[in-house]
Amino acid sequence: MAIERTLAILKPDCVRKNLIGKVVAHIQEAGFTVRAMKLVQLSRAEAEGFYAVHKDRPFFGELVDFMTSGPCVPIVLEKENAVADYRTLIGATDPAEAEEGTIRKLYADNKGQNIVHGSDSVENGRLESNYYFPEFEIINNAG
Ligand code: CMP
Repeated sequence: MAIERTLAILKPDCVRKNLIGKVVAHIQEAGFTVRAMKLVQLSRAEAEGFYAVHKDRPFFGELVDFMTSGPCVPIVLEKENAVADYRTLIGATDPAEAEEGTIRKLYADNKGQNIVHGSDSVENGRLESNYYFPEFEIINNAG
């Protein structure tokens, strides 16, 4: 299996609930390596740009309101099969449908405020990582 990159975001609800440490520990214990991480307050334009693929969906305004409601933590993760394995680790978008033991089942309130983001393809893993981090900020010898 190939080494892949995926972009995680610890969303504003994760930061507000003081769950940064617990969620990062959960991710690292599952074998992911952190290659880049920072705390950022997104502007509306930045959140709209990141979620542009959803711009015609009825929940788009709500999504942008939420993602700009406080700081969030984008994290570049690397591992063999990272994209699919990270999506398994976080569980379904709606925590009510997520498997027991997944990050969303453990910590998320609802589909809109669901604690974490994860890239949905290898290509998006690369593109989304570079939305938050220029290549020189993604560390290749992080362990
Ligand atoms: P994420 O994986 O970050 O990417 C798109 C986000 O849209 C998704 O997580 C959800 O948080 C959000 N989303 C999807 N469906 C709905 C919905 N029906 N209502 C509100 N937010 C939603």
